Amino acid sequence: MEEIKKKGKFIVFEGIDGSGKSTQADRLVRYLKSKNIKAVVTNEPQSDRPVGMLIRQALKKQISFDEKTIALLFAADRLDHIQRISEKLDEGFWVVCDRYYFSSFAYNDTALNKEWIISVNSEAMNALKADMTIFLDIPCDISLSRVSKRGEREIFENTERQNRVRNNYLELFKRFKDDENIVVIDGNAKQNIIEKKIADKIDELI
Ligand code: ADP
Ligand code: TYD
Repeated sequence: MEEIKKKGKFIVFEGIDGSGKSTQADRLVRYLKSKNIKAVVTNEPQSDRPVGMLIRQALKKQISFDEKTIALLFAADRLDHIQRISEKLDEGFWVVCDRYYFSSFAYNDTALNKEWIISVNSEAMNALKADMTIFLDIPCDISLSRVSKRGEREIFENTERQNRVRNNYLELFKRFKDDENIVVIDGNAKQNIIEKKIADKIDELI
């Protein structure tokens, strides 16, 4: 896949489960619109596309796959997603995305060597990098108390996994700091305060 030429900007939210990504992604879209910037929100895995729907079923334990297969499904869903994202970027929209390839690196690392999961996402990395990746950092116990309010737990929603995922993210950000624009924000604050910090960072891109 060739590198995508962007008219709009591509902003990604990352974080462990319940870190506030979808809340802040929605708020960011509202903020951009208030500045007369065309903006849309999207998320991975996609809920309205075949591969993403398969993943959603696996997350809810309705079907099971081994870890390597799941990792490949996430990568496939991402390439499919990039087609849709690029159309929007080409129309001049800013696209705000809840999760992208760092989620794969941070979550889908068990039983596999880390380089393999990075390599299966190399197409996406070459085609479309985020203009800014915003990592909402929260402690794992806060994550689990927030997600437990949502009802039945998904496959990755346990303390041990969330801890490992958070550490993976922090390690990855050190590794990719020269290639990616990563902003770490304390997600354990009031929603308005987080929104303001994000807006200040985003203003640097406008
Ligand atoms: P994610 O998309 O990262 O899973 P959500 O935005 O869905 O996270 O938030 C998970 C839950 O935590 C929701 O019930 C949401 O209302 C709540 N929440 C989000 N941000 C905060 C915050 N800063 N403080 C307290 N609760 C929050
Ligand atoms: P999501 O619905 O964003 O969960 P949450 O709102 O709780 O943050 O993502 C679903 C789950 O899928 C989440 O546990 C993270 C996991 N995931 C991966 O394992 N690999 C990936 O590449 C992506 C995008 C998500």
